[in-house]
Amino acid sequence: MTTSYTKDEIAALQEKAKRHLWLHFTRMSAYADNDVPVIVSGEGQYVYDQRGKRYLDGLAGLFVSQVGHGRTELAEAAARQAKELAYFPLWSYAHPQAIELADRLASLAPGDLNRVFFTTSGSEAVESAWKLAKQYFKTVGQPGRYKVLSRYIAYHGTSLGALAITGLAPIKAPFEPLPPGGVRVPNTNFYRAPAFAADDETAFGVWAADEIDRAIEQEGPDSVAAVYLEPVQNSGGCFPPPPGYFQRVREICDRHGVLLVSDEVICAFGRLGYYFGCERYGYQPDIITFAKGVTSGYAPLGGMMVSDRLMEPFGARTVTEPSHGGDAGQQQSWLVGSAGSRMHTSEGPASFLHGVTFAGHPVSCAVAMANLDVFEKEDLLGNVRANEGAFRATLEKLKDLPIVGDVRGDGYFYGIELVKDKATKETFDDDESERLLRGFLSHALFDAGLICRADDRGDPVIQLSPPLTCGQEQFDEMEQILRSVLSQAWTKI
Ligand SMILES: Cc1ncc(COP(=O)(O)O)c(C=O)c1O
Repeated sequence: MTTSYTKDEIAALQEKAKRHLWLHFTRMSAYADNDVPVIVSGEGQYVYDQRGKRYLDGLAGLFVSQVGHGRTELAEAAARQAKELAYFPLWSYAHPQAIELADRLASLAPGDLNRVFFTTSGSEAVESAWKLAKQYFKTVGQPGRYKVLSRYIAYHGTSLGALAITGLAPIKAPFEPLPPGGVRVPNTNFYRAPAFAADDETAFGVWAADEIDRAIEQEGPDSVAAVYLEPVQNSGGCFPPPPGYFQRVREICDRHGVLLVSDEVICAFGRLGYYFGCERYGYQPDIITFAKGVTSGYAPLGGMMVSDRLMEPFGARTVTEPSHGGDAGQQQSWLVGSAGSRMHTSEGPASFLHGVTFAGHPVSCAVAMANLDVFEKEDLLGNVRANEGAFRATLEKLKDLPIVGDVRGDGYFYGIELVKDKATKETFDDDESERLLRGFLSHALFDAGLICRADDRGDPVIQLSPPLTCGQEQFDEMEQILRSVLSQAWTKI
């Protein structure tokens, strides 16, 4: 469905956008003499701007729109729920949509990840997991554990706690000092592996995992609460794990009593062909954080899934039969006299001292259920698994361009690293990067009808993460646009 605006409407929106809207992570000065890009509608794998121009959504918005745009069934699920019960909190009460979704996610998640704590976003999910880890260890008599390890260049969100876990120094600097306890370890960028492991991915993985071990030893194991890892690290341009990496990390975490958090804000819900990215690589985390694709963006929702073991001090029942309410008198409920407190299955005195007003919003949960229905009906995981080889092969054709150093990723999640010299892997300096990515590529790709991400938070990369409904037609379109624009870029270096 395309909706074209009149010239006057376009001008009026531009004026208001420039006057009043503040875009995230955006130099607003860039729009002083240029139009703000305004997307007004979407259908399937495509979105449309005010003039009715079509773009292939090669980034699923922002790693979000798994089922694609314009899905009536998700919109209708939202409308139905808003009519039935638009809002009620998960503080002491429950509502059927949160219950049903928690039950469904528990049935999809691997191992003993049975408990869902909802949030509204990925940053909140990441930060909630840290808070849970800290309170958990205090509750079980290990109060010294508060530090979190994460990888260089990894992005885990922007709220202050999540930012402390994020490994991107430039976006942290203005907000220092951040909450203490963030420790960095190497990421799994095999393209830029140290010389001793440059030809052996397995050895590289052993080294990268052992660096986590070394960091825990150095910090003092009794001070470390958790290790945060994405199944495929997004920032830096899609670093998949080397073979055996996660198995070794799991062993290291177990040996030191440290929690393994799989940050799947991007990698869950089909991005890698599985409901959860950890399934693809065969490891069992203690906590999964998720957001984005759980609703395909038709409403905001995030959360964390935790193991029974972590819930124990907070009164988890590990029995499998349905629970029938606990002793409300043992709850620390702030909503005095709320009937909802009777729904708790708690058997202990502790409660997790954390909550968010809109977390597990009924409309978002209803949308998530409808989203998962689409996954099942259309076998979207099957689609990704069946076509990911074709996606990779199509993108790898770009390797014949002098500017393309590496094509890497898994599932429907790829990064293309741009280099100045393929033979030496020499990258661009800051000025070149600025000219190439901000000065040319971002605009040129958009003008050519492809939404993707040109990112230089690590070495310069183009990132692709299209809706899971894509097939060869869209792969070819991406390849053709990239080929043309990257060839032009090479002439501008
Ligand atoms: C791995 C990861 N964690 C956390 C976040 C933060 O999510 P949000 O932007 O919903 O706060 C992101 C966002 O892209 C992410 O990619």
